[in-house]
Amino acid sequence: MIRIDFTDSFVKAEAFILQRIIDRIKTLFSNKRRDLLPSDPCYIIGKLYQRIDGTRISQAERERLQLNDTSYTYGEVTQYGLSAMLAVLKPTGSEVFYDLGSGTGKAVFCAALAYDWKKCVGIEYLPGLFHVSQALLKNFLAMDEVQQFYSHKNFPIEFIGDDFLNVDFSDADIIFVNATTLNAVLWGQLELKFNLLKPGSRIIVGTRKLDESHFEKIHQALYPMSWGECTVFIYQKKSPFT
Ligand SMILES: C[S@@+](CC[C@H](N)C(=O)[O-])C[C@H]1O[C@@H](n2cnc3c(N)ncnc32)[C@H](O)[C@@H]1O
Repeated sequence: MIRIDFTDSFVKAEAFILQRIIDRIKTLFSNKRRDLLPSDPCYIIGKLYQRIDGTRISQAERERLQLNDTSYTYGEVTQYGLSAMLAVLKPTGSEVFYDLGSGTGKAVFCAALAYDWKKCVGIEYLPGLFHVSQALLKNFLAMDEVQQFYSHKNFPIEFIGDDFLNVDFSDADIIFVNATTLNAVLWGQLELKFNLLKPGSRIIVGTRKLDESHFEKIHQALYPMSWGECTVFIYQKKSPFT
């Protein structure tokens, strides 16, 4: 005989209603952008991401693909945090930026709005997140605010749906990698790829440290992420002759 567990159903229903309330509060908070000018990058990113929940998309993808690896844990850099990190580096306008593990692409859009780049690339392994970032790129370029206030600006944005270990990013000038949950083996493999970067290139890393025989640490501070404050290190690739 089939028994319906009412307690469980009620708990699930309550959890569902609670989630709706949390989502509503989040939307109300994101509507704070109404206080901003439509030309403000915060307004544009807030509007672009109004209905996007990267955590949920990632969770669904990890369940679908049965991935338990901590490396795929989702979290996002804040727009303020990334802008402050990039301000330390003062991008020149002719450099190449990569976000390794770009999720829904927020860091790429933030970097592209804040500075000029030769190329601004996000690489993401989970197909669901990658497809959202590609769809958002279309939406972003079609936004009235972008067309009206940034018509003079070039947005050389590109998203790649792949394992970043398979991608040649040796042309990078500035790399961002939100590495808090990357597993140790993956991090070791990534470090080997970093050793091939050109001298002078810089890597912004959340939580993890790089081997200082190849890199000089030029900055360290706490920055806000979606889950709270995170220690961020910025390294510069040494010249082989130093
Ligand atoms: C903590 S999230 C950071 C998202 C984004 N960079 C940000 O800071 O807003 C890390 C992302 O890296 C992705 N990822 C993990 N391992 C990867 C790999 N080997 N290749 C590409 N993406 C990877 C995860 O799926 C996840 O979306």
